Amino acid sequence: MNCTKCKTKAVIGLPRHNAAFCKGCFNSFVHEQVARAIKSEWMFGKDERILVAVSGGKDSLALWDILLKMGYRADALYVNLGIGTYSEQSYAKVMKFADAVAISHGAKLHLHTVEQEAGAGIKELAMLIHRPTCSTCGTIKRYQFNRVAIEQQYDVMATGHNLDDEAARLLGNVLHWQEEYLDKQSPSLPASVEGFAKKVKPLFRLSERELAAYAVLNRIDYIVEECPMAKGSKMLQYKEVLNRLETESPGTKQTFYLGFLDKQSKKQPAATTMTEKDRAVLHPCASCSQPTTADICSYCKMMARAKAHAAS
Ligand code: AMP
Ligand code: FES
Ligand code: ZN
Repeated sequence: MNCTKCKTKAVIGLPRHNAAFCKGCFNSFVHEQVARAIKSEWMFGKDERILVAVSGGKDSLALWDILLKMGYRADALYVNLGIGTYSEQSYAKVMKFADAVAISHGAKLHLHTVEQEAGAGIKELAMLIHRPTCSTCGTIKRYQFNRVAIEQQYDVMATGHNLDDEAARLLGNVLHWQEEYLDKQSPSLPASVEGFAKKVKPLFRLSERELAAYAVLNRIDYIVEECPMAKGSKMLQYKEVLNRLETESPGTKQTFYLGFLDKQSKKQPAATTMTEKDRAVLHPCASCSQPTTADICSYCKMMARAKAHAAS
């Protein structure tokens, strides 16, 4: 198998593009896909400061690597959730990448450790307040991403969600006709309200397999295991179904998700931004000043409950 572009020996075949690439041409392909995503969704420019949320997995570390190599001003944030060896290993991968690559580009890594603030890891915290671990985790991550982005004055926050993640999420939203979520499922959500960071997903044109190949070819050491809490989740089931379809008909995920984005773009632009109703009811949390629709934001409520339970 030879590279479609330069005809030397190919290292990866991409059936959905009917192409094969050598390492150099594959890296160019990946960078082109990210550049296209950034441009088509008006994500950010070279002068803007980007905060990449890194988990230690292949997608977010590849994203940090790609943005730095493309010349963007990208720092990162890692949230240590305190999930036993999973968190220890993912933390080690993030630190290794930061020391090896990011620092040489002058980039900075921010750290937030759940245990330091909450007095317990995410599993214990969720048990204490009788909530599922993944939703507790979601609240904490969203809050910390937003807090650091605002406090440190980043223009935009980027996550490593890829084509597989977005197609699986779309499938879930369609299966349950979650119209409100469908309206907001965009790879670029503007900072529609003072105090909320703009959120972007520059990897939405690249598949999980392509990002794993990028990480391996570029010697990015990442944690292969999924979070142990995610085992058996609906998202993983949707991904499996889509992978089966993709094997039979290469390009299925891309047609499904990019087709959806195309349809969304023809709708009213307000669909992906906050509505006037949302805007009107948002105000600063009485405890932490982050925007919320209630008096106290869900993060502060959760922390107060955890403290009360721990003290009783
Ligand atoms: P997941 O929901 O685990 O698939 O993660 C989606 C994206 O969220 C990742 O690509 C990262 O950008 C970000 N992310 C997940 N976990 C963390 C974490 N512990 N710290 C910082 N960012 C994270
Ligand atoms: Fe949040 Fe697993 S990453 S519970
Ligand atoms: Zn608050």
